[in-house]
Amino acid sequence: MKTYIVGNWKMNFTIGESSIYLHKLLKRIKPAKGMQVVIAPSPIALQPLSLQIDRKKMKLSAQNCCGKDFGAYTGETAIAQLRGIVDYCIVGHSERRYVFGETDNMIKEKVAACVRNNITPILCIGETESEKTFGETADVLKDQIETGLADVSAEDFKKVIIAYEPVWAISSVKGAKLASPDDIAASIKTIRGFLEKTYGKDAKDIPVLFGGSVNPDNAGAYLTIPGVNGLLIGGASLIADQFNDIIDVAKRVMS
Ligand code: 13P
Repeated sequence: MKTYIVGNWKMNFTIGESSIYLHKLLKRIKPAKGMQVVIAPSPIALQPLSLQIDRKKMKLSAQNCCGKDFGAYTGETAIAQLRGIVDYCIVGHSERRYVFGETDNMIKEKVAACVRNNITPILCIGETESEKTFGETADVLKDQIETGLADVSAEDFKKVIIAYEPVWAISSVKGAKLASPDDIAASIKTIRGFLEKTYGKDAKDIPVLFGGSVNPDNAGAYLTIPGVNGLLIGGASLIADQFNDIIDVAKRVMS
């Protein structure tokens, strides 16, 4: 199983800034064998960066897509339009769910559209602070996986990556707290248990990433949690030194 280090740039950087930053990363980053580095720039920067990126070093991801292939959907981008540009697409990020009101049904369509178009969806799941307080974490995670993967066939489930991002641990959320390795381990156990129950033993081949205030100091502890196969990084992925340091930590954990 590969180790995935994914940088979600969210809505940051102009096209020019994105290009300069990518240039910096390409010069600096040397991923290890067995590691897949992925960056998810703003949608407007994807096409120009696709001409600049060295795919042997890192791959591109979209941050979102439409669940329909083509048609009268003003303002949307079909994943079919991103073929040849990206290899991955983040789907169901909590900012899409809770800021822009995406429903489980929309997320299910997007995951299926990615798989249909040979682009790997990175399906984000995670409980809010109040769901955690009310002891609903396990149910929320199971529901989000179940609906998110509902239209993915039994042959295709291995084409999906899951990213567990507890909403309360995301750095941009007001009052965000660091998730403890114990908290994460319990949720990963729930996720892995549910995947195995649904898909059988082969479910162990589905990568599960962790995201939420990851930085060079905590990356090692998060990467050594059993069942975690990589990291989805927001804020720290915008700073070349920090992103590179996290990659170095991952190399040490992998060796
Ligand atoms: P932070 O690393 O800034 O908490 O963001 C996490 C995230 O939302 C990545 O998708």
